Amino acid sequence: MKTSQLLAIVVLVVVVGVVAYILGTMQQAPQVTQTAPTPPAQTTAQVKKISFYTWWAGLERFAIDAVIGNFTKKTGIQVEKTAVPGGAGVNAKFAILALMQAGNPPAAFQVHCGPEILSYIYVAPKGEASFVELSSVAKEIDMTTQAPDVLSACSLNGKVYALPVNIHRANLIFINKQVLDKIGGSVPKSLDDLVALCNKATSMGIPCLLQAGADQFTILHLWEQVFLAVAGPQKFIIFTYGTLPPDDPSLRQATEVFLTLSKTFPANWPSLDWTGAVADLVAGKGLAHVDGDWVVGLIYNVYPQVKMCPYTAVTPDCNIIVAPFPGTQGIYNLVIDAVAVPAGSPTTQMGIEFVKYFAGPEGQSIFNPLKGSIAVYKNIDPAIYPTPIQRWEVEEYRNAKAYVFSLTHGALFSDVWQSLLQQSIVLVQTGRTDLWYNTLASALNTERSLWKDTWYMGAPGKPFGGYQPPWVK
Ligand code: GAL
Repeated sequence: MKTSQLLAIVVLVVVVGVVAYILGTMQQAPQVTQTAPTPPAQTTAQVKKISFYTWWAGLERFAIDAVIGNFTKKTGIQVEKTAVPGGAGVNAKFAILALMQAGNPPAAFQVHCGPEILSYIYVAPKGEASFVELSSVAKEIDMTTQAPDVLSACSLNGKVYALPVNIHRANLIFINKQVLDKIGGSVPKSLDDLVALCNKATSMGIPCLLQAGADQFTILHLWEQVFLAVAGPQKFIIFTYGTLPPDDPSLRQATEVFLTLSKTFPANWPSLDWTGAVADLVAGKGLAHVDGDWVVGLIYNVYPQVKMCPYTAVTPDCNIIVAPFPGTQGIYNLVIDAVAVPAGSPTTQMGIEFVKYFAGPEGQSIFNPLKGSIAVYKNIDPAIYPTPIQRWEVEEYRNAKAYVFSLTHGALFSDVWQSLLQQSIVLVQTGRTDLWYNTLASALNTERSLWKDTWYMGAPGKPFGGYQPPWVK
């Protein structure tokens, strides 16, 4: 064989080998999905890519996308956002729990402060050790000095397994001012006012409360606010620990008012999700919507022509009035979004980098203006917020006389939460209070047993809301 022939064969073999190798690696390349709850892509330190599981999808994506964009610019770490749609995490929570249980967690994931994180700890292969304890990161980003109360609220037995990125408020009512004027009403201050106003609206053929059944959560959310108004903050926190007696009169009283209000929902409530309900509110298809201030973020990003005003500063050109849910003035029903980082994986270090940035002053200053929430740092200037609602909330937060964790957003173990979510829908559909009281009793019972006489919210000497569950020594 001639040298040139030999050379040609060698070249051919090399080319075939290289092509085969490339094809092989392409086949092995991880399939990344933006929406489906599949396991996160395998990443390596070289490609500097991590996955973040969240439910901030669709019309809720703006704030998180801004944070991720800036983080990547700064660190070179790409964040693959796996957004599992469904407000309040109705789908995402269970997708993340499944990954956790399978020992295949994402680098970081969205969670609420409060006992919700315990649901992940319980299913994780190594329990607490499956998560990075983030106290030292909190210190590095100044949270210990600038947000000690929020940090303590986000602690479980003094340990921090998820760092807060904001403060949302759940006990709000959003009222279409033009519809209110048409009805000839005023902003309701008490539950009685609200019931009277809603009856007036429905007698004129106007749906009163635009709640949404398709993603479930605004229904339980409404029951929760009525319960807060009836029971007050202390009983509300006791509910969170499952130690409220199931025959406490506040549960029945709240349920009756809730059922009365549910009769004023629009006919299409089962097919609406929360963003659809807000669209209808903005369009004047009903009087009001009870929800948290992620609605402020949605209106700010999607309906920039709509003017929102706090109920303390209503001007004639307002479209949407935002007020505390009637009967809960002075209480801040907290929804604190947070990020947790599973430990012991090749992406853990990058996950820590991400949470450090996101929960830090820069991340929070990018996230909160767009999210409708407020930052946890006391030294962040309220002038960064684009809406008067957020600036009003900074004041409301500072002056609140009581803080509670929202039952619909973090204050319950995930399975308990899911059963209440589903049964609140059944309650509205059937009016079967007997079923609902059974669900409440078993929810309280399960909640109590999952605390296991060991855990509590808050830090030593600083239990959340000033309430020490009976098992804390
Ligand atoms: C809450 C969450 C908010 C917002 C809302 C609607 O649970 O804390 O940030 O996402 O659900 O999806």
